[in-house]
Amino acid sequence: MDEYAIEDQRENKAIASVIISFLKYEEYALKEFYGPRVKKWESISDRQKEMVPSYTKYLENLKVAIEENGKFFRSVAEWAMQSISVRPEEIVLPDDTDMNKTCSLLIQVYREWSTEAVSERRCLNSRLIPILKALEPSKTNILIPGSGTGRLIVDLSRMGYNCEGNEYSYHMLLVSQYLLNAELTQGSTIIYPFLHSFSHWKGNDDQLTPVRIPDIEAGSSKKVMGPMSICAGSFADCYGRNQGTRISSHYTFSQRMQMSRAKAENSKDIVITNFFIDTGPNILDYLDTIVHVLKPGGIWCNFGPLLYHFENDHGVETTYEVNPYSGFQGKVNDFTPLMGLELSGDAIIEIATRCLDFELMQRESGILSGYGRYVGPESCAMPGYMCHFWVLKWSPTGEV
Ligand SMILES: C[S@@+](CC[C@H](N)C(=O)[O-])C[C@H]1O[C@@H](n2cnc3c(N)ncnc32)[C@H](O)[C@@H]1O
Repeated sequence: MDEYAIEDQRENKAIASVIISFLKYEEYALKEFYGPRVKKWESISDRQKEMVPSYTKYLENLKVAIEENGKFFRSVAEWAMQSISVRPEEIVLPDDTDMNKTCSLLIQVYREWSTEAVSERRCLNSRLIPILKALEPSKTNILIPGSGTGRLIVDLSRMGYNCEGNEYSYHMLLVSQYLLNAELTQGSTIIYPFLHSFSHWKGNDDQLTPVRIPDIEAGSSKKVMGPMSICAGSFADCYGRNQGTRISSHYTFSQRMQMSRAKAENSKDIVITNFFIDTGPNILDYLDTIVHVLKPGGIWCNFGPLLYHFENDHGVETTYEVNPYSGFQGKVNDFTPLMGLELSGDAIIEIATRCLDFELMQRESGILSGYGRYVGPESCAMPGYMCHFWVLKWSPTGEV
């Protein structure tokens, strides 16, 4: 089997595991979320049961809501199964981590594809659109790393921009493939995104609030003006430099990735990172990658918190140097920690302007934004994250 076939097989196995997690959602959620509440209810005394007469109805509604979410996931799985073939012996069953990711996808879908979450999306869009307005859409290539389920790609491509997303989670990718291509009509699907969380609710019905998605018809090609695509893989892997970067789980050394990285150089007018830059184990790899893809004069627009995803991860991995031309493996760095280097906003901007030829165009801090936040009346849901916004222009010395 050649390198490409091995990679395809690995990818198919990972996709199959996510599809199975979608098919198993209902069974999992009934066992993990509904089952324990039924047992709790059964365990209390008759006198206490009489104090909460509405609880049996609540349990019934919880079950129905899980079943509705199950329908949504089955539709996504059926859609995904059209484009993948895996032999039964290649199937890897999803573990609890995969199942939790599946459950949390509903919050992501709510954030990106519901009318209720429009104010969240506006936090970035209201700042981004004035910047984009200064550019000719058909001549502007935009890259969105960590594109989630694809909403920003659709919004910007509807404005005529050439838009490319990049995402490494197959959970996100399969849902975005479905939402972008299945031609769902507005509000045609009901999900219950909040049912997995049992704390903080003000009203009895809040947790089981149904949400209709999508709020726009993304699949309607008539409305999509600019070309849009999604590149599957890790950001630095797909778009980083071929020279001088350490091979790791986020940066591989295959012919396919080398070609992808070479093609990416100086190819984008704007990179938009929305709730993304805190996801990497080495933020400097992200900065180098952004520089690598931008054209001279290109813009990096960032919005989001600095909630470093690896902050509490004590994992290590083996990284190694490689000669990009010969493929010769050089120094091996065993036990390279994932966590560390959690740079502040000031530090990132200082490094970008002092070392990487960026010029600061705009900056705002302390912007409150929810992330899949329930927005019912007098909501007691956690308010969200304090976000950073900045716009940096890449002006390499002597150019632009
Ligand atoms: C916090 S979510 C933000 C999603 C979307 N931008 C939004 O604002 O709703 C971060 C996203 O980045 C993706 N991601 C994390 N690390 C990545 C990497 N190295 N390369 C590509 N995507 C990555 C995650 O799978 C996830 O979809």
